[in-house]
Amino acid sequence: MNGGLEGVIAAETVLSHADGETGAVWVRGHTIERLAAEHGYEGAVAVMWEGFAGRGLTRAGMRETLAAARVKAFARSGEWLACAAPRPLAEGLRIALAALPDDAEPAAILATLPVGIAVLVRAHAGKAPVAPDPSLATAADLLHMIAGAPVEPQRAAALDTYLATVIDNGLGNSTFAARVVVSSRASLAAAALGGYCAFCGPLHGGAPGLALDMLDEIEASGDIDGWIERKLGSGGRLMGFGHRVFRHRDPRADLLRAALKRLDPSSARLGFVIEVERHAVAALQRRKPGRRVEANIEMDAGLLLDAIGLPRDAFTPVFAVARCAAWLAHAMEQRQTGRMIRPASTYIGPVPAE
Ligand code: ACO
Repeated sequence: MNGGLEGVIAAETVLSHADGETGAVWVRGHTIERLAAEHGYEGAVAVMWEGFAGRGLTRAGMRETLAAARVKAFARSGEWLACAAPRPLAEGLRIALAALPDDAEPAAILATLPVGIAVLVRAHAGKAPVAPDPSLATAADLLHMIAGAPVEPQRAAALDTYLATVIDNGLGNSTFAARVVVSSRASLAAAALGGYCAFCGPLHGGAPGLALDMLDEIEASGDIDGWIERKLGSGGRLMGFGHRVFRHRDPRADLLRAALKRLDPSSARLGFVIEVERHAVAALQRRKPGRRVEANIEMDAGLLLDAIGLPRDAFTPVFAVARCAAWLAHAMEQRQTGRMIRPASTYIGPVPAE
């Protein structure tokens, strides 16, 4: 039995492809490198939604659409804020998504995330929410709504690169979840919520903050090898290592590392991360000689989001700002098949007596 469904083809898609052998990610005919460098976040959303949420979509048009949707999402935030504010950020954002009506349009769903993050980060700090500035792109506006003041363009540019880089990579766990939800003819809002719920687990989108927590612990221990051996010896997983598809280096890690170097050329922690990666990969190799477990994107993602100035509990929700665009695109594509996803199981329970 293949419990993880490795290698099982569960969809045909025009949206994205991850090639673990060559270390490539394609999004609708664009390499991830070009998508991040030339299209940015809004351009990438336009590329993914083309033909599904309109035709002739452009980066500039998507920037306007999402800005207008953020203004409406902010106006609606009173519907969920009292319930969400006392909860941890990732949980609070789940409540914001759950409050969306079934007939919410893709842009309304996607815009709920940056607005929800900013409103909740400020609520946790005891500060009043700051309204979106529709003249800004999503990355700059998210940082502006959190800070309550304009932010340096370099930080906004780094976040834009991050969001475009991690937007999609084939049939990830959360993308599949979104497709399963919508395949029963549930709404796009339900599909996005389903994707988000799957995404937040520590083996998937929940990892970047935990990867930095791990880095702190290793640093405090003063013994990289000892810490790693204790962790693996107790059956624990090293956050930021391993990927179901990328058995060699994940190409997106290099893009995020380059963005970090542009933003913070003297990043003190990057050298330490490289050191930890070297020790961790060697330790994993010793335990599973036949299997390659390499660093994934999460260490670089964590360092970059930290350098941008985002709080650690916002890392997973901010990652979801990117990935939600893909959940919606995949859900809209899945709808076109009209076929409900319903696999089978092998019964291994007791046989009834009669
Ligand atoms: N730490 C310790 N052991 C690991 C790790 C790790 N990071 N990754 C894989 N392994 C071990 C597994 O425990 C497994 O051992 P087993 O066969 O005795 O059960 C073995 O290596 C095989 O694992 P794979 O088949 O290569 O990995 P799988 O596809 O099952 O899991 C996953 C991939 C979930 C990402 C895993 O590598 C992991 O848990 N990583 C840590 C969490 C993480 O960084 N998640 C973010 C991923 S990127 C993303 O989703 C955005």
